[in-house]
Amino acid sequence: MLDMNPIYEKRAVAVRPAGAEDAADVLAIRNHAIEHSTALWTQTPQTPAEGAVWLAAHLRRGSAFVAEAEGEVVGFAVYGPWRDYDGYRHTVENSVYVREGRHGLGVGTALMAALVAGAREAGLHVMIAGIEAGNAASVRLHERFGFQHVGTIPEAGTKFGRWLDLTLMSLRLS
Ligand SMILES: CC(C)(COP(=O)(O)OP(=O)(O)OC[C@H]1O[C@@H](n2cnc3c(N)ncnc32)[C@H](O)[C@@H]1OP(=O)(O)O)[C@@H](O)C(=O)NCCC(=O)NCCS
Repeated sequence: MLDMNPIYEKRAVAVRPAGAEDAADVLAIRNHAIEHSTALWTQTPQTPAEGAVWLAAHLRRGSAFVAEAEGEVVGFAVYGPWRDYDGYRHTVENSVYVREGRHGLGVGTALMAALVAGAREAGLHVMIAGIEAGNAASVRLHERFGFQHVGTIPEAGTKFGRWLDLTLMSLRLS
């Protein structure tokens, strides 16, 4: 098991493994990003039931973390399979989301530290991030942790009536 004591802390932010009780907070943060940003390329919010199923798969794997500040969940991070074929089993894709109003305060950094440490502890080999090319905060966050820019796919997706470019970043974990 990952040693989470002391947990990653920065500016009164504490990161811990997520639990089923976090489902509503994670859903709210995720759905806000779906409705208001191009971080997630869908405009269909998750229902509470869908959110619980999505989180449960991560909880079984131990691949979900939440950040807390002042008793409130202010962000979450997960990793999961990148592609289904078994040859990809040592590679995961990550997601990091910070609650609106808490951006730029080190929460994403604290979550990423826990996520990368957790993936290393789990013996994984590569972590990939798929980032909307204009998302400067996410690109910077990944660079800080040593992710390399491995390519950008022009017009890989669409949302809010425009094409979106997908930047892929990759980190060797082991
Ligand atoms: C991307 C995100 C997770 C980053 O988390 P955060 O808590 O805001 O970031 P941090 O405060 O830990 O800062 C991380 C780095 O990004 C930089 N950064 C933060 N906001 C930035 C911005 N708007 N533009 C450029 N750089 C930015 C910080 O300066 C820091 O780099 P530094 O240490 O070199 O100064 C967060 O902004 C977020 O949830 N955004 C909406 C959802 C999203 O885009 N998720 C990622 C999908 S791929």
